[in-house]
Amino acid sequence: MTMTDPAGLRRVYERGTLDEADVGTAWFPLLHEWFETAAADPQVLEPNAVQLATVDATGAPSVRTVLAKGIDERGVVFYTNYASAKARDLEAEPRAAIAFVWLAQQRQVRITGSVTKVSRERTEEYFASRPRESQLGAWASPQSQVVGSRAVLDEQLAEVSRRFADDAAVPAPPNWGGYLLEPDAVEFWQGRTGRLHDRIRLRRANETWVRERLAP
Ligand SMILES: Cc1cc2nc3c(=O)[nH]c(=O)nc-3n(C[C@H](O)[C@H](O)[C@H](O)COP(=O)(O)O)c2cc1C
Repeated sequence: MTMTDPAGLRRVYERGTLDEADVGTAWFPLLHEWFETAAADPQVLEPNAVQLATVDATGAPSVRTVLAKGIDERGVVFYTNYASAKARDLEAEPRAAIAFVWLAQQRQVRITGSVTKVSRERTEEYFASRPRESQLGAWASPQSQVVGSRAVLDEQLAEVSRRFADDAAVPAPPNWGGYLLEPDAVEFWQGRTGRLHDRIRLRRANETWVRERLAP
């Protein structure tokens, strides 16, 4: 079977430019603006999807996609299983990196920082807003564990559906909740022609943020 040669895929990046004045001295306003642009563009599927990188106790890296469910001046919040592989990583090394990539805008935002669990109240409030099917799925899935078959998961879902059948509200599982990534560096990337892209980073240094342009 033939395969599209990825070496032959090539696109010109000319949708925009980024200069120091666009970035200013705080990371949130521009992330907010870029996120709004992506969210308003029907070409962008899942504008809140980020790649989340963690390392385990031995320094071995892992990356996976999660959905940002809170973005404000404090940082980026995502929700997951507190017994998952990523949660084990964060227990051992509570720092992480995420990347938003909005290909329709030829933009990327990279964030690194420290990670803490959000309050139980915040987790419960968010969990209550999820569709019931997702709530039951969170109870049914021992995320990151090896399971014998699809049937095992379907049976666990049937079991939790019976358990909560009479309850109006499904509570948040104790081993499920949010994490807040608090940035210590945020890099904005805008694709430019000739691969001479714009990269501008804000990095926390003591109580201030240092703005730097990076070579592409
Ligand atoms: C588009 C997309 C969105 C996802 N969102 C989440 C999420 O918000 N939370 C989550 O725990 N996993 C999410 N996943 C699944 C993760 O990528 C991953 O498979 C799972 O969290 C287990 O990762 P781990 O074994 O490294 O802990 C998403 C996957 C995709 C492709």
